[in-house]
Amino acid sequence: MIRFFLNNKLIETMQPAGLSLLDFIRNSAQLKGTKSVCMEGDCGACTVLLGKIEAGNMIYQSVASCIMPLGNVQGKHIVTVEGISDKDLNPVQQILVEVGASQCGFCTPGIVMALTGFLLNSKSLTEEDARMWVEGNICRCTGYAGISRAAKKVAEFYAPRLNTKKNRINNLIKEKILPNWFADVPSWLERLSMDNEPNAHLSRSLPVAGATDLYVQQQEALQTMPLRFLSQEDIRSDIWIDGDLLYIGGRTSAETLRNSKALNQIFPTLKKSMRLVSSLLIRQQATVAGNLVNASPIGDMAIILLSMDAVLGLADKNKIRTIRLDDFFKGYKKIDLKDGEVVKWVRMPSKFPDTMFNFEKVSRRNHLDIASVNSACRISIQENMIKEAVITAGGIAPVPFLLQKTSHRLTGKKLNIESIKGAAQCADQEIKPISDVRGTEKYKRILLRQLIYAHFITLFPEHAFELELA
Ligand SMILES: Cc1cc2nc3c(=O)[nH]c(=O)nc-3n(C[C@H](O)[C@H](O)[C@H](O)COP(=O)(O)OP(=O)(O)OC[C@H]3O[C@@H](n4cnc5c(N)ncnc54)[C@H](O)[C@@H]3O)c2cc1C
Ligand code: FES
Ligand code: FES
Repeated sequence: MIRFFLNNKLIETMQPAGLSLLDFIRNSAQLKGTKSVCMEGDCGACTVLLGKIEAGNMIYQSVASCIMPLGNVQGKHIVTVEGISDKDLNPVQQILVEVGASQCGFCTPGIVMALTGFLLNSKSLTEEDARMWVEGNICRCTGYAGISRAAKKVAEFYAPRLNTKKNRINNLIKEKILPNWFADVPSWLERLSMDNEPNAHLSRSLPVAGATDLYVQQQEALQTMPLRFLSQEDIRSDIWIDGDLLYIGGRTSAETLRNSKALNQIFPTLKKSMRLVSSLLIRQQATVAGNLVNASPIGDMAIILLSMDAVLGLADKNKIRTIRLDDFFKGYKKIDLKDGEVVKWVRMPSKFPDTMFNFEKVSRRNHLDIASVNSACRISIQENMIKEAVITAGGIAPVPFLLQKTSHRLTGKKLNIESIKGAAQCADQEIKPISDVRGTEKYKRILLRQLIYAHFITLFPEHAFELELA
């Protein structure tokens, strides 16, 4: 049986754990405010809030309920638009009306939930942050000017009224954005956690993490399969340092990676790079490990972590074996992962002295699309000499690809135009792109050359390389 709270009601259901939360909300619970449009996590019409207790605090994230299996909401609090508005409009809804941010209204519940998630959980309450919380919400008729106005007004009005240091639930109850019963949710969840059913008997079943790949690819089939929900296992979802090593837990989300202080101290441009990975809606749900195991040749986090000397810790019950990330990828969608094993953590050195990092991605849309070609570069320089360079790229081989020859060719060379052009030529010989929907072979070769140039132009603006590489 799956047990969770939907708004202020306890749900106990025998529906399949693989059923999507959206189907449950609309068809079983008969709450029709949450809309069903793309069913692929792309449009945000089905956005709801998922609340859980983490390190003693109640945390809410927005999730795409169309690609969220019921098994992942076991023991959690789910909030739909009905949960935050009663007879009258909630103040966030009122703002959308005032600034003309809604016409047919189909996307509106998703936007209301995303902005409520912003008020509940965003570390800073700027207009830019508010816009980031709605970047996964597509509107077909109003246009984005109205929605941007709403995001601005919500941020401007509430930033001075909410204490960003403290849990904001009580503040938001006072502001009438949340109903009074929100204050009781932590105690409801604590009681539920005592009767969680263990997952252990499912250890040979298909692991499900954020489900953002699985539920786009094979939603129907998953409804009847035995699934192993990693959200119910003892796998960490944070990032920590132990001596000379930095660890990323096997359930760490892409958004946690983006916000990690430890990682951003080592690679200060990482936060900006990670903005290019899907939308905030998906980044909160998607895990880093899921991106690696999915083994898409254009997986952004695979390309980033390949450049950082990452090693995986693969666990089968209490046994752990380690494997370098570049050895993990064996062929198109083939990985070195045995039946029953899960990624327990990803590890890398915690120090990269004098090192710079850059990530580039070309896709048809900026924030909501996977890449045609992407590339990461980690480089350390001493007295204008390249001490070490590592370049990785996606979309140009059957696997996320470490450009070993190109990286070796750069290492030990002077930092100048000849070295950069030589690296681009070497990369062209090292890769094997194919023509597909994301571009022809020739186009991908040109893209990679340009991305290698872009790494050096971005990392070394003082050299004005762009003048000679144009
Ligand atoms: C709208 C949308 C936009 C997207 N945009 C991007 C993008 O810009 N860039 C990008 O790279 N990707 C993108 N993705 C793809 C996806 O979000 C990522 O690949 C994500 O990181 C997958 O993680 P997950 O936790 O959702 O994996 P899941 O879907 O849960 O699992 C994926 C695979 O990994 C396995 N798995 C998951 N965790 C583990 C583990 N710990 N151990 C063993 N096996 C495991 C599962 O069995 C499954 O085979 C997008 C997806 C959507 C829906
Ligand atoms: S219906 Fe489009 S994201 Fe869920
Ligand atoms: S108001 Fe119609 S889709 Fe946004």
